[in-house]
Amino acid sequence: LSQSVGLRLEQLTSIAAFSAALDAHRAHGRSIGLVPTLGALHDGHAALIRRAAAECDVVAVTVFVNPLQFGPDEDLSRYPRTLAADAALAADCGAAILFSPPVQEMYPGPVLTSVRVSGLTGTLEGASRPGHFDGVATVVAKLFAMAGRCRAYFGEKDFQQLAVVRRLAADLSFPVEVVACPTVREPDGLALSSRNAYLSAEERAVAPLLHAALLEGADAVAAGETDPAAVAAAVAATVAAEPRFRLDYAAAVDPATLAVPAALAPGQEVRLLVAAHLGTTRLIDNLGTTVPAPSPAPARKADPACAGA
Ligand code: PAF
Repeated sequence: LSQSVGLRLEQLTSIAAFSAALDAHRAHGRSIGLVPTLGALHDGHAALIRRAAAECDVVAVTVFVNPLQFGPDEDLSRYPRTLAADAALAADCGAAILFSPPVQEMYPGPVLTSVRVSGLTGTLEGASRPGHFDGVATVVAKLFAMAGRCRAYFGEKDFQQLAVVRRLAADLSFPVEVVACPTVREPDGLALSSRNAYLSAEERAVAPLLHAALLEGADAVAAGETDPAAVAAAVAATVAAEPRFRLDYAAAVDPATLAVPAALAPGQEVRLLVAAHLGTTRLIDNLGTTVPAPSPAPARKADPACAGA
């Protein structure tokens, strides 16, 4: 951590100090940008922090590996913890505050209160990872309560999470504007994720197929496919072509409700989502597309019988 980085970044671990720091900035008329993370920051997080820094006076990054959102068989213990590097990246991207509370600070006793955004969490990631979104919603609600009025930046990479967070902010009347930021990708299309670090060289080489599969789905929509199941099947077939992948789900859904429409209508926005295991790593990705509008009907020839009438 360079000295200048150390000087510019205020590192806090207590909830009281974090809330007080943001209150003090607001009292001076400064707007707050909040970037909640699990740490192991990469260029995708850097884009969120830079955007927050461009749009807000003060940026606070939170780093907390939230045990509530990891299932019993998931990677809580092996999740990368790289706080010094995270602090350096956050400061370089323009953050003023790094809040990294210990688990004991966030959950000093048994968690008796939990937030559930029903309706958006029973399918896709929610179906594959029971309880995951309750853990996400609970910790995000806590962070919003601690942070107070702010803009909060989330990546579209976790598309269902974004929908859940938007809804909880609205339903619980948090004074928080949720800002969605586009997925950052490697040059070969692989979406940036802290979990990419788990991939072997061979797995890393085939991982971009997930993005290619989404592009196949978008091509099917562009070619006029109106059955969401057929679009999802086009995505799934591309993933299945690489035997190292084990598909979890592929879906074409309404981006607001995450429900599968009966049929895709002209002009309708569609979100394609995919999740698959590659070795011991589970990867997710998604892509937005729009159903093409019907091409205009050819102009009718003038009826000679009517001409000059
Ligand atoms: O996407 C993440 O990094 C986490 O799920 C979040 C939103 C910080 C909650 O722990």
